[in-house]
Amino acid sequence: MFPDSYQMDEYHHISIGAVPIRELVEEYGTPLYVLDYETMVHRIKSFQGALNEMTPPGRAFYAGKAFLTTAMAGFLKEQGMGLDVVSGGELYTALAAGFNMKNIVFHGNVKTADEIRLALTHDVGYVVVDSLDELRLINDIAQSMGRKAPVLLRLTPGIEAHTHAFIQTGQFDSKFGFAMVDGIHEVAVRTALSSAHITLKGFHAHIGSQIFDEDPFVHNAERLMAFVQVLWEERGFWPEVLDIGGGFGVQYTRTDDPPEITRILSRVDQTVSAMTPSRCPAPTVFIEPGRAIVAEAGVTIYQVNATKSVSGGKQYVAVDGGMGDNIRPALYQAEYTAQIEGKPNAGYIPYTVAGRYCESGDIIIRHMALPPVEVGDFLVVFGTGAYNYAMSSNYNRVTRPAVVLVAQGQSYLWVKRETYQDLLAQDLPWHPPGTRNDSV
Ligand code: LLP
Repeated sequence: MFPDSYQMDEYHHISIGAVPIRELVEEYGTPLYVLDYETMVHRIKSFQGALNEMTPPGRAFYAGKAFLTTAMAGFLKEQGMGLDVVSGGELYTALAAGFNMKNIVFHGNVKTADEIRLALTHDVGYVVVDSLDELRLINDIAQSMGRKAPVLLRLTPGIEAHTHAFIQTGQFDSKFGFAMVDGIHEVAVRTALSSAHITLKGFHAHIGSQIFDEDPFVHNAERLMAFVQVLWEERGFWPEVLDIGGGFGVQYTRTDDPPEITRILSRVDQTVSAMTPSRCPAPTVFIEPGRAIVAEAGVTIYQVNATKSVSGGKQYVAVDGGMGDNIRPALYQAEYTAQIEGKPNAGYIPYTVAGRYCESGDIIIRHMALPPVEVGDFLVVFGTGAYNYAMSSNYNRVTRPAVVLVAQGQSYLWVKRETYQDLLAQDLPWHPPGTRNDSV
């Protein structure tokens, strides 16, 4: 829940990465996204440690959709991580950071011809194919470029993991991938194997996000292995790669109980080895953790703008951010934990933390016991590193916060705070219809 370097001193002053929250606020203003270097490094190291215990060693591709900027891509490169991208924009960000394209898995249920061309031009490691139409398109583009595209087929294994319906992806009627029923997946394999400009490297199946149980991850590996055993017997095809996706849960509130990654990966390893025929090498297991690497590294600092008691006794705290910088409560009823900088942790007033956007649904935290809150206080919301900045918007024409990395007593600006000029950057002035717009 808290960043690994989180500290609260005897006066209840909070610091992250040994940088006091008050200093960050003075230097960068609010709202502010803060990322803790130490937490990200620890999470990456523990994934890498567990993957190295596998035979052959597994590989991690950070899911860029959770949070990706040029600096983040540079950081991941330095950490020896692979990267999962889902758009030309994410790919372009990785390119800008000098990321090795061989360490990229290109996902997405819709990839445009331009995006596929960009990926193949830069030799991405793997393109994950989502439909037969896409398979044909990739084959055609690869042919026109005189090359072969390395692909994984995305399968939908029929696993319903317990998480919010909007972030489940493993069930058969999901919009993603080839369902492993009615032979749909077999047609995909046949088509891939007979496409002259496709090299089938293996299979992918992601079952959902924010999953706490270990079993669905192991079942996913089992289903994929059962399928490749059949392929081996019937066609003599054996995959190099088995990508089981991401989805490892994290702690947002005290009641969240994340799974033990080392145990999941060792159970997956045993399953894959046990189900590999003796004449074949065990495929390399890929994972794509996003949230588990960045969520708990991130906090958002807001300033309290108003407090309000409404009829029925509800007490609101209104802050200077909200659904523009964190859409998750409105979209998924996501829950968060917060503290007031400089005030004791022992909360005793039940508050509702409201955002500044013009929507009744713009509530950051529905119920949170906090010490008495006053205007001007700084509210620190924990666990905001994943899918907050990445899903942010300019709703109400509010500018997006800055993103700052903290490490060993220093802070580093990763993304500048947006300005009003930034808001207008793509706008053009009014011209009556029928007149020419010369400013384009
Ligand atoms: N791989 C694939 C193919 C995915 O679709 C996803 C997430 C991941 C990896 C990374 O999953 P993670 O390890 O971060 O759970 N916006 C939602 C989450 C959507 C996740 C979509 N796919 C949220 O804020 O909870």
